[in-house]
Amino acid sequence: MKVGIVGAGLVGSAAGYAIALLGAASDVVFVDRNPALALAQAEDVAHAVPFVGSCRVSAGDYAALSGAGVVILAAGVPQKPGESRLSLLSRNAEVFADVIAQVRAAAPEALLVVASNPVDIMTGVAQRCSGLEAGRVIGSGTILDTARFRSMVSDHLGVAVQSIHAAVLGEHGDSEVLAWSSAHVGGEPLDLCARELGTPITAEVRARIDEGVRRAAYRIIDGKGATWYGIGAGLARIVQAIRDDQRAVLTVSVRTPHVEGIEDVVLSLPRVVGASGVSATVLPDIAADERAALRRSAEILKETAGSLW
Ligand code: LAC
Repeated sequence: MKVGIVGAGLVGSAAGYAIALLGAASDVVFVDRNPALALAQAEDVAHAVPFVGSCRVSAGDYAALSGAGVVILAAGVPQKPGESRLSLLSRNAEVFADVIAQVRAAAPEALLVVASNPVDIMTGVAQRCSGLEAGRVIGSGTILDTARFRSMVSDHLGVAVQSIHAAVLGEHGDSEVLAWSSAHVGGEPLDLCARELGTPITAEVRARIDEGVRRAAYRIIDGKGATWYGIGAGLARIVQAIRDDQRAVLTVSVRTPHVEGIEDVVLSLPRVVGASGVSATVLPDIAADERAALRRSAEILKETAGSLW
C-alpha cells in the first residue's frame, strides 16, 4: 500500500520514518509546499530502509499521491512553548483549506489520517471539506495520550505495557479524559490488581500520572521545541491497522453523531480500525465523573470548532 504524507516537517517525517521501519507500507511519498524539504526528508528516510526492510520512499507533488491507500495530513504549524493546541486553529485551518481538494483529486480512494493540531478540529475540517464518510477520515486523536497513559501505569505497576488496557478519551488536549474506571491489567480491574501488587493507585499516584499524561507535550516542547517521535509512531500504528485490516481497537478521532448528549462532535473514543477506516466504536462503561468530563470535552471542541465543522 502506498502512503502519502502531506507536510514533510517534524511530524510528517517522523511518521514516514516509523512507517518505513515498521514496514507498514510498500511506498511512502512526501509532499510539501517546500519541495526541497520533501526531497531531503525522502532521501534521509530512504537511507534508513536498507537496514530494516524494503519500503520505497520518494517525494513529489500532489500527483505523486495517485493510488495511495492512505494520505497522512501533517501540514501546518506546530505548537509554540506554552501554547495550547486549540490556539493553533486559525493558522492550521487556513493551511488545510487548500490541501484537502488537491489530495482528493490526486488520491480519491485514499483514507485520510489527520495529524495536524488541533487534531480533533482539523479532522472535522478534513471530513467536511473532503465529503468522505466519517469513518474514512481519522484523526490521530488520543492514540498518543493513551500510549502515554498505558506506559505510566506500566512503570508504576512493573507490568508490561502490552498488558495494560487503558484509554484516554475526548480531546487530544487539555480537556482529555483518562478513563481510570475502565482500565484493566490483563483481565483484572486496575485498582484491584494494583493493590494485589502492592503498588496501589493512591490519589497521589493518580494525580501524578494524570499530570504526566496531560502535560507531556508541553514538557517536551519546553525541552526540545516540538514533539515528533511519539506521534510519528502513533500514525504508523494507524497505517498498520488499515494496511493489514487488523480491526484493532485504537483511541482515534472521528466525527461521531452523539457523545454524552452532545451531537455531531469529533473526538477520540476506542474505535475499531481496519481497511475501511473506523468501522465501530467500543466505549466501555466509565464512571459518572469521567462521563461528565467527556461531555465537557465534547462541549469545548464543539464550541471551538463552531462553523468549521
Ligand atoms: C503531542 C502532540 C502530537 O501530544 O500534540 O505530542
